[in-house]
Formats: sequence, C-alpha cells, structure tokens
Amino acid sequence: MGRNIIITGGAGFIGSHVVRLFVNKYPDYNIINVDKLTYAGNLENLKDIEDKPNYKFVKADICDFDTIYKLICDEQVDGIIHLAAESHVDRSIKDPFTFAKTNVIGTLSLLQAAKLYWESVCEPGTWNMKHENGAVPCRFYHISTDEVYGALKMTHPEGIEPPFTTKASSSSHHEAYGKDFFYETTKYQPHSPYSASKASSDHFVRAFHDTYGMPTIVTNCSNNYGPYQFPEKLIPLFTNNIRHKKPLPVWKRRKRKRLAICC
Ligand SMILES: NC(=O)c1ccc[n+]([C@@H]2O[C@H](COP(=O)([O-])OP(=O)(O)OC[C@H]3O[C@@H](n4cnc5c(N)ncnc54)[C@H](O)[C@@H]3O)[C@@H](O)[C@H]2O)c1
Repeated sequence: MGRNIIITGGAGFIGSHVVRLFVNKYPDYNIINVDKLTYAGNLENLKDIEDKPNYKFVKADICDFDTIYKLICDEQVDGIIHLAAESHVDRSIKDPFTFAKTNVIGTLSLLQAAKLYWESVCEPGTWNMKHENGAVPCRFYHISTDEVYGALKMTHPEGIEPPFTTKASSSSHHEAYGKDFFYETTKYQPHSPYSASKASSDHFVRAFHDTYGMPTIVTNCSNNYGPYQFPEKLIPLFTNNIRHKKPLPVWKRRKRKRLAICC
C-alpha cells in the first residue's frame, strides 16, 4: 500500500541518500523532500531522481509551522523522517541561536503539525490513518546524533595512552581504541551548542511520545562521511586539503575517540 512520507533535510548530505533510497526502493510511496536549502542543501545531490513520478521537492523552513501544517494536511502525510538540521559544530560555536531555532523550534513545529493532523484523521485512540485499502500506522522518525552523549574516553585495553610516540607505534596501537560504548541508557551530556540543540530536540520528541502517545523513534547515530558531504566536515575537509597540499587544521589534542561510518 502506498504511503505519503515527508523527508526533511533531503537536499543535505545524509538526507539526499535517504531520499534516493526511498524513491527508488518504494515506487508506490510519495516522497516529499522538504528543505530550506541553506548553504548545506544542494539539489544537485538529487539530479538522478528529480524527475521520478513519486518524488516532489518543497522548499520550506521547518520552523514555519503554518506552511508545514498545511503541507502535511494537503499531502495526507502518514510518516515523517526528520533530518533537517544545522549540523556543523564549529558553526554552532559562532552562532548558537540559529542552531536552537532550527534544531529545537523546527523539530517542535514538525511534531506539533504532525500531531494535530494525525489526531484529526486517525481512528480515535489510535495513530492509524484510514486509507482506502486499510489503516496505515503513522510514524515520526527523528534522526539525532551520538554527540548528545558527549565523548568516549580513549581506554586502550593495555592502558596505553596517546599521544603516540615512535616507540609506541606498534601494531597494537592501530587496533580500535576503547572498550566503552554509548547505550540508549547513557546519560545525556552534550558539550557543544550543536549537541545541546540536538539533545533538546530529542527530549521534545520523547515528550510527544510520553505525553500524547505519538509513535516516534529517535536514533543517535555516530559520525557519517561519504559522497555529497559538505566539504567543511572533518573527513572531506582533510581529504581536500591533502589533495591540494594544504595544512590540516587540528585545534586541540584530545584523548577522546569518535567513530565514523560511510554513507
Ligand atoms: N553528518 C553526520 O555525521 C551526522 C551524524 C549523526 C547525526 N546526524 C544528523 O543527521 C541529520 C542530517 O545531517 P547531515 O550531515 O546530512 O546535515 P547537512 O548539514 O548536510 O544537511 C542538513 C539539511 O537540512 C536543511 N535545513 C537546515 N535548516 C533547515 C530548516 N530550517 N528547514 C528546512 N531544512 C533545513 C539544509 O538545507 C540541508 O539540506 C542531522 O539532523 C544531523 O544532526 C548527522
């Protein structure tokens, strides 16, 4: 059965991969990409699917509640995959207000718009939307980050501490460091305005679940890298600088580890 799904931030790095995946994998779904096209959004990322009949792009700001609510009603949206965000930590240090606005108020605006529409069309006491061929369960899927948990300490199994010396550059130093992991139960400990704003948005999503019973999912993924990533982020920045023989900016030596997965 077809579904009507909004993907926010679909012109960005991860969002464009998600949009492409859904458009190609689910030809009977209507995929609506909602993106403000900030400096980080680029429709060139989606050139290969822009003419597909099950794809539509809508330029909108997620903080604009009236526009978002009207769109959700007009398109009879039964699922939201929410990726739109201000996502670069360094920018959040210079301009925390924009991060609070987009990541917190924008998420709240989407949640409230979805809740009002779904309450008006779902079977009373359920979050199942009536369709011609049966009921479809509504879902709000919020993409967050592991940065809400802070950082993992470098805890090499043999207790070896960085910085690495020539003497210490044995093969054991190239093993994965650390025996700690983040769990869903790990305490929230954001350290930057970016992660604080994402943590706050996670709390709002959980509050909508706990207060109204709204079907929500929060995922806290580690860093990603890959095609279409804006070149200000660490791995594309370093790759570009190495290719053009430019210096690699490292601001602070930290005994912390971060994981990155490829999109
Ligand atoms: N990149 C990572 O390593 C990583 C890791 C974990 C979680 N995340 C999360 O995944 C999501 C996507 O990250 P990304 O790296 O693709 O980000 P990105 O910066 O590449 O893309 C963000 C997109 O959101 C859009 N956007 C920004 N403000 C908006 C607004 N007010 N209204 C509508 N659209 C707006 C931008 O135009 C852009 O297309 C974010 O929520 C981020 O917090 C990213």
